[in-house]
Amino acid sequence: MRVVIAEVPELARVGADAVERVLREKEHPVLGLATGGSPLPVYAELERRHREEGLSLAHASAFLLDEYVGLPADHPERYRHVIGRELVDRVDLDPERVHGPDGLAEDLEAACAAFEAQIQAAGGVDVQILGIGTDGHIAFNEPGSSFASRTRVMALTRQTREDNARFFGGDPQAVPARCLTQGLGTIMQARQLVLLATGEAKAAAVRELLEGAVSVAWPATILQHHPDVTVLLDEAAASGLRLAEHFRELERVSR
Ligand code: GLP
Repeated sequence: MRVVIAEVPELARVGADAVERVLREKEHPVLGLATGGSPLPVYAELERRHREEGLSLAHASAFLLDEYVGLPADHPERYRHVIGRELVDRVDLDPERVHGPDGLAEDLEAACAAFEAQIQAAGGVDVQILGIGTDGHIAFNEPGSSFASRTRVMALTRQTREDNARFFGGDPQAVPARCLTQGLGTIMQARQLVLLATGEAKAAAVRELLEGAVSVAWPATILQHHPDVTVLLDEAAASGLRLAEHFRELERVSR
């Protein structure tokens, strides 16, 4: 894994570089987009490059990681709307080519299977942006998720509902109890992964991710088995790392 410990603007540049490379190299680039606060600086940097440097996302398609089950179609916290506000509407990405699992489907299992098939039909994800939950989840793969899991229905932990209550008027009960999420097996098939984590609340999960044993107790640890992962951390998120100096040195000598 490449680990970058830096201030947020530099993290945003490194994350946006990974996306830009795919946009420039591939005829039909496929982006994997995460919601949540962590990726926002990368999206803002992509928007800036689009506006000021003519970077185009018009030929790309994109897949979301996850979606709440049962939120009304016009609910502002549906991830489809969130990613619209945070990225799609701000660049020239075609909204018709932005796909997410359908949390309003009558048959949720069928919706998950259809979403998996869409990813395969697009040729797989070239670069997947990720955040990490305080309990070590990625997408909504909560602790205990199988490393082989595919897109499926998942129940959110109490911790995640508390973490996400800030988007639902501060009330954990208002956060949907269930979601659809790409599985860990699905995410591991993306060709490149870029994970962002900022703030002290993420320090424990980041320590497990980079220095812990691979365990379903911390789902993100499966990324240790992926051949192309970049982990972008601010000082606070890196504050629990025993190997922080080593990671900094590696970055100095290899760039
Ligand atoms: C949410 C999302 C994840 C996200 C994580 C961290 O529950 N389902 O995709 O990575 O929590 O969110 P944030 O970046 O806001 O801390």
